[in-house]
Amino acid sequence: MYSDKVMDHFQNPRNVGEIEDASGVGTVGNAKCGDIMRIYLDIDENQVIRDCKFKTFGCGAAVATSSMATELVKGKNIQEALQVTNKAVMEALDGLPPVKVHCSLLAEEAIHAALWDYAEKHGIKIEGLSKPKSDIHEGEEEEEEEY
Ligand code: FES
Repeated sequence: MYSDKVMDHFQNPRNVGEIEDASGVGTVGNAKCGDIMRIYLDIDENQVIRDCKFKTFGCGAAVATSSMATELVKGKNIQEALQVTNKAVMEALDGLPPVKVHCSLLAEEAIHAALWDYAEKHGIKIEGLSKPKSDIHEGEEEEEEEY
């Protein structure tokens, strides 16, 4: 059902954790499955993503897509990071079963939410970025399994 890459990123997720004093943090959730994803970005003065970490409470595909998404945005500038769509994440993972496509959407939304948070904190506008729909704020989430 899952590609080798999905299994690899699920079993050995990259960039798990938190970034203290992150430049931007985005937490998103899917109301139907209840899964929650949080992405932390450390962005330098040239708007390049120096580091990226995640915490996901949810399914295996959600863990794999967050892991891959963090790998894809690291080292990119914020405009390039916006191109890391759910399609790009799925392609990098050699695909996902149709019922798991929404998990990759969560990864895209989490990156966007973290970029949105960064933009708000710094009083800037990021071209092409709109407010993520499933943004969750502190205290609203329920915790499930932690990776
Ligand atoms: Fe909902 Fe994976 S089943 S994020």
